[in-house]
Amino acid sequence: MGDRRTRGADGSTGVLLWFLCCCASEKQVSAQIRYSIPEEVEEGAVVGNVAKDLGLAVGTLVERRFRIVSGSKDALFQVNQNNGVLYVHKNIDREELCDGTGACLINLKIAVENPLEIHYVGVEITDVNDHSPSFTEKDLHLEIAENTLSDTRFELQTARDADVGLNSVRMYLLSSNPHFELELIDNGDEDKVPFLILRKAIDREQSTNHSFILTAIDGANPPRSGTLNITVTVVDVNDNRPVCGKDIYSVTIQENAPIGTTVLNINATDTDEGQNGEVEYALGRNIKRKVHDIFNLNSLTGEIRVIGPVDFEENEVYKLTVQASDKGQPPLSVDCRVVIKITDINDNKPEIEVTSLSNMISEDSKSGTVISLISVTDTDSGNNGKVLLTISEDVPFELKPSFQDNAYSVVTKGRLDRELVSHYDITITATDCGQPPLSTFKTLTVQISDVNDNSPEFSQNPLELYLVENNPRGESIFSVSATDKDLNENAAISYHIVRGEGTQNDMASFLNINSDNGHISALKSFDFEFLKTFKFQVVATDSGTPSLSSNVTINVFILDQ
Ligand SMILES: *[C@@H]1O[C@H](CO)[C@@H](O)[C@H](O)[C@H]1NC(C)=O
Ligand SMILES: *[C@@H]1O[C@H](CO)[C@@H](O)[C@H](O)[C@H]1NC(C)=O
Ligand SMILES: *[C@@H]1O[C@H](CO)[C@@H](O)[C@H](O)[C@H]1NC(C)=O
Ligand SMILES: *[C@@H]1O[C@H](CO)[C@@H](O)[C@H](O)[C@H]1NC(C)=O
Repeated sequence: MGDRRTRGADGSTGVLLWFLCCCASEKQVSAQIRYSIPEEVEEGAVVGNVAKDLGLAVGTLVERRFRIVSGSKDALFQVNQNNGVLYVHKNIDREELCDGTGACLINLKIAVENPLEIHYVGVEITDVNDHSPSFTEKDLHLEIAENTLSDTRFELQTARDADVGLNSVRMYLLSSNPHFELELIDNGDEDKVPFLILRKAIDREQSTNHSFILTAIDGANPPRSGTLNITVTVVDVNDNRPVCGKDIYSVTIQENAPIGTTVLNINATDTDEGQNGEVEYALGRNIKRKVHDIFNLNSLTGEIRVIGPVDFEENEVYKLTVQASDKGQPPLSVDCRVVIKITDINDNKPEIEVTSLSNMISEDSKSGTVISLISVTDTDSGNNGKVLLTISEDVPFELKPSFQDNAYSVVTKGRLDRELVSHYDITITATDCGQPPLSTFKTLTVQISDVNDNSPEFSQNPLELYLVENNPRGESIFSVSATDKDLNENAAISYHIVRGEGTQNDMASFLNINSDNGHISALKSFDFEFLKTFKFQVVATDSGTPSLSSNVTINVFILDQ
């Protein structure tokens, strides 16, 4: 019957019900009961004794069909007809049931029949801290350039918490780190937004990454929290110059070092990253053209090699600057100083220079007569310059040092005799003290000029002439000849017969001599019976100044016919 009535009330008496309902409501509003329970209580938990609180007799509840009649949410609660208690029938999740942050109220309609009464009961579901703050992403990666100014802000994501009030996010903490601090900024909404503030400049060359943790905490006791891992990668900026490996690169190489020889490696380093830290090299702008022909710098490796002749005599030391630049935009550079010293090797012969020379000297020159002045030079250094001078031993000449360094005179030593040696080749040798020694020589040719120091000479003295009597007058009867070791006039001989002895045997006046060739002719025909023997003298005289002469005696024997 009750079912039918209910159906009747639901179907045909709708208007009446509505009336009753509204009539009753005026009374019921004031009598309305409100309970409060936390969410997530266990099933069966008692909300309150509704029957008692409504003033209904407990013993009539079954008969009057005491029950909840309101909508779908009624399934969360049930009433006990035996004792009138309202209890939790299903787990209640406040966050599932209600949106937003306002109160979460569930209205229940409780009905009894005979007579019909409708009572309104409100149950407020209070929040329990059953959610932790959380971030949508688990980690956050930021890239920040190392030259970023202090106090620059970086917005972080806010944390969410489904709970309300104190149970929702109340504060943020940043794990301690030397560079960043946290600042919360009101965005006009209820939530505050966390920002990262750069307090102390970051330097990629000190640390490339910084990691820390942002923690969001709710206001409950005990609190719940959620974390966000933050990694900051420091983006490089070209803020470091390359640095030379050494203050001064100093190296010594030998003169004439072969082409391709490595002189040294320059190594500049740059702590920046990528192109900002890649170093390339170039010879300084003010380096002489010539240096480029001798040394080559590898722009990538910094290696300096020999590519041309290294000549100590041309340059003993090269001072270069090498510019090391990174490839940043704009690039930064540094000048590395390089000193290349060249050691001498004995690659130059001494040189002899004849500053004056008398090609011709007289054979009667006194000992010590200067015939030549010479000077010696050697372009090498040290012992390689140092020169010893020698002169051939078999000549009557010697070297005398002069007051000037490396200058010498060549002088005569002892007597000269043109008739023995008419010219000399004098060899002068200069030898340096290098290892191995190098030497050079020079030959001076000297002619000895003649002096009239030899008389004409007859090969034999006296001479004997056998003359047959009755010789025809004017005919040649004899010939004499003298020689002279001197030259030219000093050796040009003329002959004459010595006359005027005035003796009875003086036959010289009957004789004639050709002064040029010494041919003697007789002006008289001799007679054995009258004169058997006589003698005369022929003098040979040279044409020197003064002239020299000698004589020969000729003994004449007349032969009988
Ligand atoms: C820094 O972070 C980058 C990017 O996350 C990573 O590749 C690198 O390995 C990290 N370096 C260090 C030293 O932690
Ligand atoms: C966050 O950082 C902590 C400590 O550095 C680490 O143990 C954890 O695995 C990190 N979590 C993530 C999601 O990277
Ligand atoms: C230059 O120096 C750096 C650091 O000292 C080293 O790693 C590199 O190998 C060197 N390069 C050369 C060409 O010597
Ligand atoms: C001939 O020679 C001798 C010996 O040298 C010398 O004594 C003499 O005076 C000379 N006679 C003449 C005429 O020159």
